[in-house]
Amino acid sequence: MTDRYAVVGNPIAHSKSPQIHTQFAQQTKQDLSYEKLLGEIGAFKATVEQFKAEGGKGLNVTVPFKEDAFAMVDRLEPRAQQAGAVNTLWFEGDSIVGDNTDGVGLVSDLGCNHFFNFANARILLLGAGGASRGVLFPLLDQQPSQIVIANRTVSKAEALARLANNDKVTACGFDALAGQQFDLIINGTAAGLSAEVPPIPDDCLASGGWTYDMMYSTEPTAFVKWGQAHGAAKALDGLGMLVEQAAAAFKIWRGVAPDTESVIAALR
Ligand code: ATR
Repeated sequence: MTDRYAVVGNPIAHSKSPQIHTQFAQQTKQDLSYEKLLGEIGAFKATVEQFKAEGGKGLNVTVPFKEDAFAMVDRLEPRAQQAGAVNTLWFEGDSIVGDNTDGVGLVSDLGCNHFFNFANARILLLGAGGASRGVLFPLLDQQPSQIVIANRTVSKAEALARLANNDKVTACGFDALAGQQFDLIINGTAAGLSAEVPPIPDDCLASGGWTYDMMYSTEPTAFVKWGQAHGAAKALDGLGMLVEQAAAAFKIWRGVAPDTESVIAALR
């Protein structure tokens, strides 16, 4: 029988996840279906329970339900605990289990697809919301020399840095970045939704440094354009991260790692 999976979000019409997982399934000859589910705000738990009752095998969770998923599962994998959010769910007997593959998705895209060398890198993480929290711990695991979290609301950056509880992680406002340089600048703010870029100094990208926007779009995002205009060796968007987080979820569910390169190329 065909195993059923889905992505839940609101809105959900634009999601590329069905395309991605369908390609993974074809490649690896897995008998599964993958659909989009429009979740009702305030009724996420009911959506998951209904899907489970209908025999569904697993779900991906996207905006705005990752925190709801975190709150409702019976068991959390350590990565989801650290992220404070769940993007991948599955069922073990009666239990609902949650993990978070966003951070490993970012690290895989940068490290495996693009060969970014994290060792001793100085990383600037822009934003202190769910997107930044989701990638902070997996980035720290890569042994950079420092991670500076800069945010419009400084207190939120400070709270996230405290959560990391690691000397390598500090927090500040955008103004305080003057005179500092970074090998990798990651945009985890929502500024791109209004085609804006956080107000960071023009010279904060080190020579040979890279930029990464966790968002993606068919056109270059505002932050990708910022990277290109400021001499980034690579100015990447989040399409690779999207495919890599999906691949990590697929591996959890099906036990096989799909090829991501061909899927990223097809989506471009
Ligand atoms: P997400 O879960 O997507 O990270 P979020 O928790 O609402 O969403 O966080 C959005 C992040 O984008 C925050 O860091 C926010 O800054 P504040 O904490 O100061 O609100 C940041 N952000 C949103 N719009 C921004 C803008 N125009 N310029 C800079 N930062 C912005």
